[in-house]
Amino acid sequence: MSERLSSVVTRGPSATRELGERIGEELGPGSVIALIGELGCGKTCFTKGICAGLAIPKKQVNSPTFAFVNEYHGRLLVLHLDLYRIEDASTGLDVGIMDYLARARNGVAVVEWAEKVLPLLPDERLVVRFEFLSARKRRIELAASGARFVRILRHLESR
Ligand SMILES: Nc1ncnc2c1ncn2[C@@H]1O[C@H](COP(=O)(O)OP(=O)(O)OP(=O)(O)O)[C@@H](O)[C@H]1O
Ligand SMILES: [Mg+2]
Repeated sequence: MSERLSSVVTRGPSATRELGERIGEELGPGSVIALIGELGCGKTCFTKGICAGLAIPKKQVNSPTFAFVNEYHGRLLVLHLDLYRIEDASTGLDVGIMDYLARARNGVAVVEWAEKVLPLLPDERLVVRFEFLSARKRRIELAASGARFVRILRHLESR
């Protein structure tokens, strides 16, 4: 499977949101976006951007910490999963993650704390890793697996 890696530094939440938005604009049905990084590194902020790119108002988008999953309706159906409270892939299965992924088959699944369930996610995916550099700076590494995500990254880099 084709792969591509790209890294950017954002200086403030609006830059992280805009990056998400540019990706969201290009997503097609059946996209899986895996977000990895510690508390407060910008996963939800980036998700708001992805949703904006899919014509979902950002005020609708919040971490579904108690429900595991939020559902938004925009250009595509978005399932926003937050796995903070689950331990590993086996607990992920217990809370029905495979059903959520199946429901997002024609939509978009955005998964916070995705490192806990990476083996359960499809091979074709965009993995986004967030790293704190300072209070307002984050390094965001985008790892595309599969032709469609590789194409999106290439396009992003050329803009
Ligand atoms: N460059 C940046 N990118 C993203 N967020 C930033 C940046 N600089 C500062 N912030 C701040 O960091 C916080 C990121 O919060 P956010 O809820 O997106 O993180 P999270 O990774 O989803 O956290 P959690 O693990 O609790 O779900 C926000 O308060 C935001 O304003
Ligand atoms: Mg969050």
